[in-house]
Amino acid sequence: MKYVSTSLNEKYLMDSLVKSKFFTSSALILFTSILVYQYITFGPFAPLQCQLLRIGCLDTEIHGYVAPEFIDVKKAFIKNFENGYEIGSSVAVYYDGNLVVDLQGGYADLEAKRKYDNNTLQPVFSSTKVMSAIMIAYLVDRGFLDYNKKVSTYWPEFAQGNKENVTLLDLVNHRAGLSYLNTKVTKSDLEDLDKFAKTLASQPHSFNGVSSRAYHATTVGWYLNEIVRRVDPKHRTIGKIISDEILEQYDLEFYLLLPPNFISRVAKLYEISKIRGIFDMFNVFFEWWIGMIPNSYFSEFNDKESVMYKTFQPSGPFKISDFSDLETLTVEWPSVNGITNAKSMAKLGAIIVNNGQPINSVTYKPLISKSTIDLMSTKLPETFDHVLYKNITPASGGFAYLRYPGIEDVEFIGWGGYGGSSFIWNRELGISFGYAMNGLLPPKYGKTGDLRLWSVLKEVVNVAKKLKKEQA
Ligand SMILES: *[C@@H]1O[C@H](CO)[C@@H](O)[C@H](O)[C@H]1NC(C)=O
Ligand SMILES: *[C@@H]1O[C@H](CO)[C@@H](O)[C@H](O)[C@H]1NC(C)=O
Repeated sequence: MKYVSTSLNEKYLMDSLVKSKFFTSSALILFTSILVYQYITFGPFAPLQCQLLRIGCLDTEIHGYVAPEFIDVKKAFIKNFENGYEIGSSVAVYYDGNLVVDLQGGYADLEAKRKYDNNTLQPVFSSTKVMSAIMIAYLVDRGFLDYNKKVSTYWPEFAQGNKENVTLLDLVNHRAGLSYLNTKVTKSDLEDLDKFAKTLASQPHSFNGVSSRAYHATTVGWYLNEIVRRVDPKHRTIGKIISDEILEQYDLEFYLLLPPNFISRVAKLYEISKIRGIFDMFNVFFEWWIGMIPNSYFSEFNDKESVMYKTFQPSGPFKISDFSDLETLTVEWPSVNGITNAKSMAKLGAIIVNNGQPINSVTYKPLISKSTIDLMSTKLPETFDHVLYKNITPASGGFAYLRYPGIEDVEFIGWGGYGGSSFIWNRELGISFGYAMNGLLPPKYGKTGDLRLWSVLKEVVNVAKKLKKEQA
């Protein structure tokens, strides 16, 4: 009896232990799953306790102006903050020549609690290429440059290494075979442009002279700058011409040469955490697994002889984290280190949509004539890009025709920048759009921008379509 009872007791004890262990571990697994789920479904820029438990989230106060018709744009913009996808950012929209959205929110410097406001400036990486391409069109318009001329007409030493037939049109459209340089560029190279021009000229064509598109991510601005120095009567760089002839005259802030006293206005940049980066890699793996990313993309990426591999090698003097520093922002690099805000990008786009006519500025001189705007907007045939590893539809002036999820029927002209910034316009709908943010999301294969941009842009397009319909 005693024995049995003990046995029963022990059995009971064992049973309840096993059960409670089972329940505890189940509860633990469930709890961990909920945390992981919370974590991966929430934005990467919220504090950890907010990502996991939705406590201690950043405030989501938004400042600025929105026209009543465009209120849904503000709602979409706020959602990005609420969901932890923003640290600080700004979005601006012009519609038919009027500023209809000019919103800012979050922090320019999270640690110092400096607000991201209408005084904030920030690096926009490759959105800088839109500004540089507009300046090339500006010089084409004034007769200093011709897209169809060979680069060697302006720069005889350029005609080496199978580059003798490369035209300005090839160069602005990333098909000059110059997506990388064989030598690593240092900061002192960018400070001695005469010497640097020799390095640039000596680089051989990476497709042996055959025109092939391969995104000149870091290089295009260096080449354009040398050409501009040679055709400008005062031998100025693109950045210097912008400072002398564009910014005050057209009421814009877009610096290729940042005045040093403006450094305190520049937002600090933030990247996602290492753990987030790992989740992101799972996502890449998943996209490959379901066939969204072709196998050949990875083999190209790892093939040391491929143009893509060579282009992605670190080639410039600065790391991403350097891009809020004076050192980095006061040497000119017209591919990537422009400093601006959403409003200036949208306003410059609006001047293009307005056929070059200024908007609320001290000058009455058109920025670029309508005929040159038509020329630079001309659609070129869709073509495969060997670096971005996807098809691109170029607009002659060095922009691209872009489509976005949920609004695929509308094509924008422009480009975007590393981390998510965007500088685009659509002439038919009368929209121009600028978006700048200091929370940098990793680029995704085949995508232009990310969900923050898409959700806000979609509302802009919906309202503009509705207004156009009412006007008709
Ligand atoms: C910037 O924002 C402040 C505060 O909201 C406002 O007083 C000021 O007019 C704004 N400046 C411009 C140029 O919009
Ligand atoms: C440049 O064009 C000329 C004339 O069409 C051609 O003979 C030459 O092979 C071309 N050069 C290169 C590097 O493709």
